[in-house]
Amino acid sequence: MSLEVNKVAAAVLTAGIAFMVTGLVGDLIVHPRKLETSALATPAAAQPAAAAAPAPAALEPISPLLAAANADNGRALAGRLCASCHNFASGGPNGVGPNLYGIVGKNHAQTAGFNYSAANRALADKPWDYEALNAFLARPATAMPGTRMAFAGISNTGQRADVIAYLRTLAATPVPLP
Ligand code: HEC
Repeated sequence: MSLEVNKVAAAVLTAGIAFMVTGLVGDLIVHPRKLETSALATPAAAQPAAAAAPAPAALEPISPLLAAANADNGRALAGRLCASCHNFASGGPNGVGPNLYGIVGKNHAQTAGFNYSAANRALADKPWDYEALNAFLARPATAMPGTRMAFAGISNTGQRADVIAYLRTLAATPVPLP
């Protein structure tokens, strides 16, 4: 009787061990790999091309806004945004950027003793008129690729008008408003 029980137990044990070993060996032989992309995904080429990013809106001209712009606010903005690099006083020093006294109407890259970028020097026969300042201050790197002015820009049109109105006051005889 107990011999029969032992035989059955041994048979069950053997079957169990055989089952485990088969599983392990199977795992060793077959390495399942995950698909890197789902075989069911639509190929990229079959998908409609993503709509091209809309071109940045053309810059609104600043000249019509200058008469009503707030030069005092522009002075405060310039103190916050520009003064770490620019001095605004007549006869003041250059800093990381050139002194900006009298910049409106002055040609590009004309302040003595400042090491301008080639990009700015290439425009040395062009004045910093209101619209040139507008474009440059909105996005320096876009308006003048290669500029050394590491400043993101003033995206707000009203603030740009205020800053430019302030720059205009930095002259014995400010350039006439447009
Ligand atoms: C991180 C420093 C930095 C900041 C901030 C900065 N600038 Fe400049 N700026 C420069 C440098 C450097 C140049 C010279 C650019 C070149 O030669 O390409 C420059 C050039 C200019 C010029 C052209 C000057 C010329 O003689 O041709 C103007 C105008 C100007 N900056 C205005 C501003 C105003 C306004 C602000 C603030 C709203 C400002 N910058 C903020 C560094 C700075």
